[in-house]
Amino acid sequence: MCGIVGVSGRADACEVLVEGLRRLEYRGYDSAGVCGAGLDGAMAGERAAGKVSALAAKLAARGGLAGMSGIAHTRWATHGAAEERNAHPHRAGRVALVHNGIIENHAALKAELMAAGRTFQSDTDSEVVAHLFDAALDVHADPHDAWRAVVGRLQGAFALAAVSESAPGLVFGARKAAPLLAALGNGTGYIASDAMALPEDAATIIYLEDGDTVVAGPGSADVRDAQGRPAQRKQAAGPGVFGRVDKGPFRHFMEKEIHEQPEVVGRTLAAYLDLAGGAVNLPAAVDFAAMNRLLIVGCGTAAYAGMVARYWFESLAGLPTEVDIASEFRYRDPAFAKGDAALFISQSGETADTLEALRLCKAAGLITIALTNTPHSTMAREADIVLPTLAGPEIGVASTKAFTCQLAALAVAAGAQRERMDAQAVQAAIADLSAAPRLMGEALNLRQGVDALALDLARSDIVLFLGRNSLYPLALEGALKLKEISYIHAEGYAAGELKHGPIALIEEGVAVIVLAPMDALFDKTRSSIEQVRARGARVIAVADPEAAAALDGQSALTFVTPAAGRLAAPIVMAVAVQLIAYLTAVHKGTDVDQPRNLAKSVTVE
Ligand code: F6R
Repeated sequence: MCGIVGVSGRADACEVLVEGLRRLEYRGYDSAGVCGAGLDGAMAGERAAGKVSALAAKLAARGGLAGMSGIAHTRWATHGAAEERNAHPHRAGRVALVHNGIIENHAALKAELMAAGRTFQSDTDSEVVAHLFDAALDVHADPHDAWRAVVGRLQGAFALAAVSESAPGLVFGARKAAPLLAALGNGTGYIASDAMALPEDAATIIYLEDGDTVVAGPGSADVRDAQGRPAQRKQAAGPGVFGRVDKGPFRHFMEKEIHEQPEVVGRTLAAYLDLAGGAVNLPAAVDFAAMNRLLIVGCGTAAYAGMVARYWFESLAGLPTEVDIASEFRYRDPAFAKGDAALFISQSGETADTLEALRLCKAAGLITIALTNTPHSTMAREADIVLPTLAGPEIGVASTKAFTCQLAALAVAAGAQRERMDAQAVQAAIADLSAAPRLMGEALNLRQGVDALALDLARSDIVLFLGRNSLYPLALEGALKLKEISYIHAEGYAAGELKHGPIALIEEGVAVIVLAPMDALFDKTRSSIEQVRARGARVIAVADPEAAAALDGQSALTFVTPAAGRLAAPIVMAVAVQLIAYLTAVHKGTDVDQPRNLAKSVTVE
């Protein structure tokens, strides 16, 4: 989603800003812009629709931008088309401003500003804030007071950064229900929506809280709370040079992240399992034994991880579990009962709907647990308990390694404390899970075979995924992965649901990918295969060796994944569906790491 960078106090401010935008590209965006300000306050900017490379080319053509401070932005269109005139920064008089989020009262503010004679150049809600700041600078002698007065008038969710000719060298920031941090290093002050945007010398990160404003100067950051009082906020070391991620020998971040999975799933498991002692190490505060019901909430892939976990929590732990997508949960007036606890799954820890669902549950008095890949995220800070996943930075917009790490952590959590399993069953579950990293490594060998299939799938108009039990959510995930990066219409269904409607989609040659492990429901899965095959479907099975042998001749193509226990099976088969999506997208030639219209971290509704 939109990205913000601000810098104060560097002779190469504009280069640092554009480099910061490049590092934010993974978040997804459709236009970019930068504005530099000199020591005398004089400002100059450039904007471009499309990629940061288009902006960089425009800057190169004009010999770069001078300036010791400035702001920059990647925009993911909400109000107004993805055109240059809607790209940020927006200029109004002495002010340039960038904004992430939505200003809900923008129409009323715009009417007021127009009545005062101000004219607007864009269709965005953001431009009103630039005008408000420009107008406030006439009224308030201290620019920080002017800034706070503006922020106090805004409704909605926003992260903002601004510079002004009347306050040379300063960068103004504000945060409400959208991520923004400040950072310091080497005589420079920074503002960013994501630590990834910061250069190596940003040694100290300051995590702003909702309602905060900040004014960054060379080597300083004046943070105030919503009442205007100086505020001390949580600090952490900056990402430094070791925080940088590159593609290594891979063509795409997604490809690299798929291949990293054996390692990062192993690392996540090791954080929760004492393999030598055969014991589970959950944070002391987590007490699944005390819960009467577990509510799991997330969006997209994270919600699918929760759906897989529901099978585990209910069957292994006997813990009644409900899973909901955050955007529905938060608005459906959910009913709570004594002993409810809520688990929020989020790679970024910043997804707006999931965060608001967490706040809703916290306000209702529930214990809140965040399972997140981003330890300093808002969810990690606000939840009662944090369960980290150790996937490392995930750059590809389509989630892969974060998903399998979520599954690994959830599998450990399920049943860990409910004493439903005897010691032997616990040891068997630990052995089942511990094998997952090795088996994922073996599943990566499917790549060559999948590549041949992907060439065919790339020409398909529709692809269906079927699964049962804990493989049903993986069918949904497989379809989501394929549609988001290859733009092929893909749907996932519970295999048993086929006859209740989806089978009407089957005609000669339609590709149906069936997740078919040799489990208690194998015969039912096989009968679903027969039903679609009888209607002309081209069945592609993802099966363990025993199931593959049993399916002999029933599928047009079978990818044999290594034999895995019930906990490891969805984690291992995830590799197969990820490879199918990835290689199909490569054959289609799409922008795999930054697919159209998508954002990595959905921080607005
Ligand atoms: C799909 C994908 C999304 C995210 C969803 C939640 O590949 O990545 O569906 O899973 O936007 O994001 P987080 O986990 O950051 O809350």
